[in-house]
Order: sequence, then C-alpha cells, then structure tokens
Amino acid sequence: MKLEIFDNYEGLSLRAAKEIIGAIQRKPSAVFCLATGDSPKRTYELLTNEVTQSGVDFSKAHFIGLDEWVGIPPSNPGSCHYYLDTNVFRPLGISAARIHLFDALSKDLPNECQSMDETIRRLGGIDLMLVGIGMNGHVGFNEPGVSPNLYSHVIHLDEMTQNVGQKYFNGAVVLKQGITLGLKHFLETKLVLLVANGEKKAAIIKRSLEENISENLPATFIRKHANSKVFIDSAAASKLIKAR
Ligand code: GLP
Repeated sequence: MKLEIFDNYEGLSLRAAKEIIGAIQRKPSAVFCLATGDSPKRTYELLTNEVTQSGVDFSKAHFIGLDEWVGIPPSNPGSCHYYLDTNVFRPLGISAARIHLFDALSKDLPNECQSMDETIRRLGGIDLMLVGIGMNGHVGFNEPGVSPNLYSHVIHLDEMTQNVGQKYFNGAVVLKQGITLGLKHFLETKLVLLVANGEKKAAIIKRSLEENISENLPATFIRKHANSKVFIDSAAASKLIKAR
C-alpha cells in the first residue's frame, strides 16, 4: 500500500483522476469499478474535464457497479445508479452495453450477485477500483464483520450506514440492506485506490491504517492488497501518528 497525503481535496482528486486516465491509456479496454459518495465527486469532475479537453477515449472500457441500496430504484437521485449516470457515465459518454450495475430491485438478489461475479470473470477481472471509506470503515457495503472470502453478496447495513446514508437522499428513506462486490473482488482487483477527505474521516483513517488487519474493520484490507494507493488530504491524515 502506498499512502499519499495532499494539502487539500483538490490535490487528491486530481491525483485520483490522473490514475484513472493512466489506466485507460495503458489499457483502452480496462475494467473500472468506481465508487459513489461525496469523496470521489471532484475526481469525476476533473476526469470529465480532462476527457473533454484531451479526448481520452473510454469507448472500449467497461464499468462495474460497486454497490447499491437494496430497494432503491435508479430514478432516485440517492441511488448509486443515478449518481454514476450523472457523474460518470453520461459525462464520459459510456454506452449502456459497457455498464454493469446491480439491479437492486430484483426479486432474485442472489442471482444478481451470481451474474455480477460472472460478468467480472468474463471481462478478465477489474483493472482499477476506486473506493471511498464509510464512517464505520466499510468499503463498498462490506460492513464490519464481513467475511473477506465473499464475492458479491447482500448484506444487512449497520446502523451507522443506515443513518449516514440519509445524506444522499431528499427526505428520510429506509435503508436496511445493500448489495455489494465483496472483499474478494477488492483483493483481486489489479489496482485499488482509496480516497478520503476532511476531518470527519480522520478517526476512521487512523484506525484503518494503524490497527491490525481485521474483518471487523474492512478498510484495513487495503493494506493486504498487493497494489493499492491511499490518497487523503491533510485533514483526513491529521490523526495519523506517522503523518505528524
Ligand atoms: C457509502 C458507499 C461507499 C462510499 C462510502 C463513503 O455508503 N456505500 O461506496 O464509498 O459510503 O461515502 P462518502 O464518500 O460519501 O463519505
């Protein structure tokens, strides 16, 4: 794992956008898995600007969904589907055939998980995954206590995730379950980037980078990954022992 600390959110976002561009330049048919949430928002804006200006070509790339709120339709602005359409797929002009997201309204969620795993296998694995970190140390919806041996699965969301998740929605919503790629996908991905910014993330970043690697804190698995990079701003780094 490589840790890079930036003066501000803009700096880390620019760095993450450059990693994504580097990946597509190395491999035009790269398979990406990009998280939703507030943390990577600026990365996607900068990526879009760069693509518009320099004409980097994403037309051969594939995009895998990281996670979704079970029962929330794609038309809901709080859904991961809506977020990715708005912040990534439409701005980059990605065609529907190259987008592979969970159907969180499916009556057969185990089948959704199975077909996602098959898609990832068929595409030869994920080349680059960009993740954020939940306030409880989750990655995607891999909540504390999750087995690191799982591929896609449906999971009960812990209370903190149910509460923090309200910030994405216009009005209160019931968030009980998530459908997510597993830590096994995360560990098998060729390059994983984790981004976090702001003081609110300082405590969980400290725990994730300094405590023992354990399924009780899924983000600690970033240190087990063979090729991972953590980009954080100085506020998120403010509680780290070594960064001081
Ligand atoms: C959410 C998502 C994650 C996201 C994380 C952090 O609940 N399931 O994919 O990365 O929590 O979100 P944010 O960047 O808004 O802090």
